Amino acid sequence: MNKPIYLDYNATTPHAPEVIEAMRPYLEEHFGNPSSSHWYGSEPRRAVEEARQQVAGLLGCAAREVVFTSGGTEANNHAIKGTVWAMRERGTHIITSAVEHPAVLEVCRSLAGFGFETTVLRVDGEGLVDPAAVEEAIRPDTILITIMHANNEVGTIQPIGDIAEIARNQNIIFHTDAAQSVGKIPAAVDALGVDMLSVAGHKLYAPKGIGALYIRGPVKPAKFCHGAGQERGRRAGTENVTQIVGLGKACELASLNLQEHLAEMRQLRDRLADGLTGVLPGSRVNSHPVHRLPNTLSVSFRGMEANRIIERIGGEVAVSPGAACHSGGVNISHVLSAMGIPEEWAKGTVRFSVGRMTTVAEVDRAAQVVAAAVRELRD
Ligand SMILES: Cc1ncc(COP(=O)(O)O)c(C=O)c1O
Repeated sequence: MNKPIYLDYNATTPHAPEVIEAMRPYLEEHFGNPSSSHWYGSEPRRAVEEARQQVAGLLGCAAREVVFTSGGTEANNHAIKGTVWAMRERGTHIITSAVEHPAVLEVCRSLAGFGFETTVLRVDGEGLVDPAAVEEAIRPDTILITIMHANNEVGTIQPIGDIAEIARNQNIIFHTDAAQSVGKIPAAVDALGVDMLSVAGHKLYAPKGIGALYIRGPVKPAKFCHGAGQERGRRAGTENVTQIVGLGKACELASLNLQEHLAEMRQLRDRLADGLTGVLPGSRVNSHPVHRLPNTLSVSFRGMEANRIIERIGGEVAVSPGAACHSGGVNISHVLSAMGIPEEWAKGTVRFSVGRMTTVAEVDRAAQVVAAAVRELRD
């Protein structure tokens, strides 16, 4: 069977072959517990520390500032809950944005039950948070600002450096969810100016269920997972050695060819956009025209239903919807709603995301298939 063309790299990426090779010895041979003081513990322990260096290399931080987690969701939970619990004597106010992933929005929402209050900032029609709005939202009791680096649905990249400066001037901790940006665009923590940054392994060719949280030296979020003393007492539980090794390798690969990879993805994305919006009247791209991920293309087809397009092309192209229509109406994604995309456009939104394994031939074929499906459905 011919598999559909995979254009859903923002959902997850395939494993890089080098990542699989790097992990293999830890599945087949080096099974030891990194905390064991005997012979079996030493190689896994060394491998975990090497991986920490590799992650730190991509983020431009010290290895001791990297804590391994079970993925982007846990990293966000750790950053947000850990910070507010540690800082609750100083205040109870959090600032975030309306376009965050549920792994941030739901965490903030859950904290309402514990007396924390969250200001959710609006975005403009291109998905951007205004740094001036962040500054205005700051109160004497603000203890945390959490704004994502790049959006998973539309790819808009936030002005993280400007927001970081505001946070720093007011002595407020600043976290960014960089699950979608790490490995695709530069995400060095000093250039961004952030105090904490979340990484999700499966968005950069490492396995699912592994991630990392960067925590700047002086920042001390409360411990998130209690137990034994792994990860310098910051995250208890025997390390997931195999996947940590995979994440390390993936970060090393990303740092080796970041600019080249970025340029390739941008070309593929633009070619796909030309093959769709260039030939289909009543279609538009949702994102900031410049500040956007090189691999992400959110396209709205006016008056159409995303699920009907996806059903029709499903045998040939794998993509994600930006809205779900059902008998009771239409559920438009919170990101498109926050951007104020009118319903007649938003409900026909499809997210295409290309990656390292995508070819020009795939992009051309996908554009043909989607354009034909849209024309047929319109007829
Ligand atoms: C922006 C963003 N944050 C967080 C996550 C969650 O990461 P994970 O799947 O590793 O828990 C995702 C995954 O889709 C994401 O796109």
